[in-house]
Amino acid sequence: MEGVTIVDHPLVQHKLTLMRDKTRSTKGFRQLLNEIGMLLCYEVTRDLPLENVEIDTPLAPMMAPMIAGKKLVFAPILRAGVGFLDGMLELVPSARVAHIGLYRDPQTLQAVEYYFKAPSDLADRRIIVMDPMLATANSAVAAVDRLKERGARDLRFVCLLAAPEGIATFRGAHPDVPIWTASVDERLNDHGYIVPGLGDAGDRMYGTR
Ligand code: PRP
Ligand code: URA
Repeated sequence: MEGVTIVDHPLVQHKLTLMRDKTRSTKGFRQLLNEIGMLLCYEVTRDLPLENVEIDTPLAPMMAPMIAGKKLVFAPILRAGVGFLDGMLELVPSARVAHIGLYRDPQTLQAVEYYFKAPSDLADRRIIVMDPMLATANSAVAAVDRLKERGARDLRFVCLLAAPEGIATFRGAHPDVPIWTASVDERLNDHGYIVPGLGDAGDRMYGTR
């Protein structure tokens, strides 16, 4: 699938299976989401450019690689996207954060925005949008629309599970934004839930149902 990277690392796949299990506790679910966030961060930053800088080790001067180019912004879609954030910030503590508050209207499945707060210099940054679930993709498309309105040009989208329908919609709306996901599941059900999926990510993460 063009523009889609499936992260098939055994640790990611193992942890995802633990999360799908309906008997997993809220605490366990949240912890696993955080751990997978860290692993997905490793994958989505794999091709960041490096530049050699001069340093002195205790023994000798040397030229050594450091990440170059645009600084990162992490953009979690609330609520469930926040589950990835701490793990990602562990690896990139200097990243800025853009919070995007969206919920899915249960009848229309359209995304409704209730909060948006982002750094002002999005045009100069590389933005990693994150949400565990890409179902209809209405939320992800709305989030990227909003970031682009504010100047963002260099974006990536990271999720845990994607539905084929959501990938098609997202790639149609934003072909310039590549996707990283741990799994492409079978389909959406009549209520717009991913099957087999893992249920409602926000509710499972916060114990709200
Ligand atoms: C869930 C999920 C995504 C969205 C995905 O959020 O976290 O944001 O649904 O569905 P879509 O691809 O069809 O838009 P929800 O709206 O349930 O809000 P929550 O995270 O606050 O629970
Ligand atoms: N949102 C979720 O949390 N889960 C789904 O399966 C679809 C949308």
